[in-house]
Amino acid sequence: MNVCRKSLQRLGLDYLDEYLIHWPVVDGQKSGSGPDPPLEGILDACTIRPAINQVEAHPYWRNDKLERGIHVTAYSPLGSPHTAGFFNREGTPVLSQDPTLCAIAERHGCSPAEVAVAWAVQRGTSCLPKSTKEEHLRSNLAAASWRLPEDDFQALSDLETQCRMLDGAWFLSPEGPYRTLEELWDTEHEVQTSSKE
Ligand SMILES: NC(=O)c1ccc[n+]([C@@H]2O[C@H](COP(=O)([O-])OP(=O)(O)OC[C@H]3O[C@@H](n4cnc5c(N)ncnc54)[C@H](OP(=O)(O)O)[C@@H]3O)[C@@H](O)[C@H]2O)c1
Repeated sequence: MNVCRKSLQRLGLDYLDEYLIHWPVVDGQKSGSGPDPPLEGILDACTIRPAINQVEAHPYWRNDKLERGIHVTAYSPLGSPHTAGFFNREGTPVLSQDPTLCAIAERHGCSPAEVAVAWAVQRGTSCLPKSTKEEHLRSNLAAASWRLPEDDFQALSDLETQCRMLDGAWFLSPEGPYRTLEELWDTEHEVQTSSKE
């Protein structure tokens, strides 16, 4: 809350529509404490419920368990192709090359990116596809109002490959507070899995 007040002060405002806490990890050296409580801990303690939860979400990382009445907005909804090999490990599968996604795109005469946007919105999330190209910005925006046929939607919702593109490994340190990815993400079900492993 103090940090939010400082941001308001710096911005010269007294109200923000949305205040996004980006990667809410703790710095062990600064705080001297262990990892912060997970989302459940925040919900128990808060007086104002978070309105939006921004997480990685796309057909290769559905994050299905993140409901709880808080709107989910997807980052890296296209599978973050431009960060491949930089933020993720070698061998991480590439969403835009997924055969199911590519076949659906081909059938509808559009790009895998547009299908991924349509899928994200159809499942009830919002999404933030990034692009440096006007044509992509326009086509991604248009795809947000498409509706995929149910079997295509379901096929993407059932992809076996589940793998974070941005796993946060750069926060791990032998000194803690995050020694392993399981500690960072605090739930066992979020450990990286891939059908290609
Ligand atoms: N909260 C967080 O921790 C967090 C972490 C990561 C990202 N984010 C947010 O999420 C946003 C998007 O995530 P992201 O940048 O990781 O990945 P992304 O949106 O999944 O992928 C962006 C890539 O997709 C390409 N692309 C976009 N539209 C396309 C289209 N229609 N056809 C073909 N390629 C297309 C872009 O290339 P072109 O430029 O060539 O179109 C770019 O290389 C970021 O801007 C950021 O705001 C938040």
